[in-house]
Amino acid sequence: MKQMVLVSGGAGYIGCHTTVELIAAGYDVVIADNLSNADMSGVEGVRQITGVDVPFVEVDCCDKQAFARLFEQYNFDSVIHFAAYKAVGESVVDPMKYYRNNLTSFMNVVELMREYGRHNIVFSSSATVYGEADELPVTELTPRKPATSSYGNTKQICEDILRDVATAYEGLRGISLRYFNPIGAHPSALIGELPRGVPQNLVPFITQTAAGVRECLSVFGDDYPTPDGSCLRDYIDVVDLAKAHVVAITRMVEGKNKQPYEVFNVGTGNGVSVLELLHGFERVNGVKVNHKIAPRRAGDVVAIWADTKLANEELGWRSERTLDETLRSAWEWEKHVRGIK
Ligand code: WQD
Repeated sequence: MKQMVLVSGGAGYIGCHTTVELIAAGYDVVIADNLSNADMSGVEGVRQITGVDVPFVEVDCCDKQAFARLFEQYNFDSVIHFAAYKAVGESVVDPMKYYRNNLTSFMNVVELMREYGRHNIVFSSSATVYGEADELPVTELTPRKPATSSYGNTKQICEDILRDVATAYEGLRGISLRYFNPIGAHPSALIGELPRGVPQNLVPFITQTAAGVRECLSVFGDDYPTPDGSCLRDYIDVVDLAKAHVVAITRMVEGKNKQPYEVFNVGTGNGVSVLELLHGFERVNGVKVNHKIAPRRAGDVVAIWADTKLANEELGWRSERTLDETLRSAWEWEKHVRGIK
């Protein structure tokens, strides 16, 4: 019988891409989402790509009673928990919104898994837990730094909850995947990132500027101690990232995890500067992106990229798409959204 996976927050950017890869790998999927920061277009894109009428349930994971009905109705053994708020700046202005939503929904998932005897969970964590790291690249053993935003703190707290419950409760296994900077879109251009309002992240700002939706990209700082003065990040293709979730779930389904709780970095292992990324985007797509150098953005770390050895060796996972391919896919998606030929 096919294994079923619950993808909470599955209408969002990474959730949609992961659902496509789960189905390609032979899993059944049920998507749960409260549509607070997504609409149904992603789910429809997933259905179109896969040819599968993936079940979708509109539910808020913070509403435990409503969420429990999903556990009654569907017999999944594994959960990938994406459902969370993710705007770093907003979390600083309204921390309770983030603590209430991100922690409540996560605790509900874990408690319901226990009550209903479900075994495997992958948690969406973030490289943000490393803060300004003392050593680069960061390994999973690099100490986490105190979070500088409530968003980042919810990631740290959920990691700790998962570590404790997986260690304490027989039969519950968990993996935290620490994402670096997810970018790009599915090669079909049917799903991709659709930020509401003004994009806070670099690549959607670049693609919207190229499309004429934004006037000018601000490059936040060119006087950092890096080769070209702009910050360094590890940009991971969203399809590669999606595949990391599939191997993480399969590892637990097959009982191959070495500990009840494990953590993996999901990045490429390459540090790329803002200016390199911008010029790479212009080169591969043959478009100009109007930009200017602006002051540093508060809270940015100078540089971070992943040591991916653990994911390579333990999960047998590595990033496959080149940065050029990923930047092409980001532009194809933006053109699809804007109806640009
Ligand atoms: C990347 C680089 C900016 C916008 C954040 C969160 C992280 C995760 C992903 C999740 C930085 C520069 C950006 C712009 C710019 N969150 N930049 N002009 O800050 O590395 O990570 O997003 O869901 O937790 O912290 O990503 O894309 O915002 O920035 O120059 O208009 O691009 O200064 O150096 P970041 P980002």
